[in-house]
Amino acid sequence: MTKLLIVATGNPGKLREMQTYLADSDWELTLKPEELEIEETGDTFAANACLKASQVAQATGSWAIADDSGLQVDALQGAPGVYSARYGKTDSDRIARLLKELGDTPNRQAQFVCAVAIARPDGIIALQSEGYCRGEILHAPRGHGGFGYDPVFYVPETHLTFAEMTPEVKRSVSHRGKAFVDLLQKLPHLNNNY
Ligand code: IMP
Repeated sequence: MTKLLIVATGNPGKLREMQTYLADSDWELTLKPEELEIEETGDTFAANACLKASQVAQATGSWAIADDSGLQVDALQGAPGVYSARYGKTDSDRIARLLKELGDTPNRQAQFVCAVAIARPDGIIALQSEGYCRGEILHAPRGHGGFGYDPVFYVPETHLTFAEMTPEVKRSVSHRGKAFVDLLQKLPHLNNNY
């Protein structure tokens, strides 16, 4: 039987992406009601994913799924972290600020992190997963695909930045792709007869 899963985002792009990851599951995904705004007040990606999933589940009385993601740069002690989306007004502002703060620092190591949470209709978290992708911050952007920090995030094993990858390649190496592989492995163990 198909079950409704509300995606705790107003972003149709994120809905489509989650539909791709969960295509073989028996969940039918839909966007959260527009008027339902949730502030990301957590200080970890997992805390933010949980609070978004939990609040949307409680408000709608349905199962809900949320993710939270961002970039952690080693030489910046993990910044921009949970503030990745708020680091500047536009993607190019955010990249410019990141490159300025890193300057000529030789240590360019960084990772993208993605946390995903599924909440039951009563708001209790039923499932959590996390994925990571290690890489390096380039001195200048490369590539035109993707979004956010993609043009400055270089993954050495692929010899490509996220912005140079096809969506399929990015899915196979990215933090979000890995978080969903982990989630899909755990999904059959979810007691969804709630
Ligand atoms: P959120 O998970 O929608 O809150 O997004 C967090 C922010 O992290 C985004 O606005 C981007 O700036 C950044 N981010 C998360 N994932 C990616 C990615 O795959 N590529 C580039 N930037 C990302």
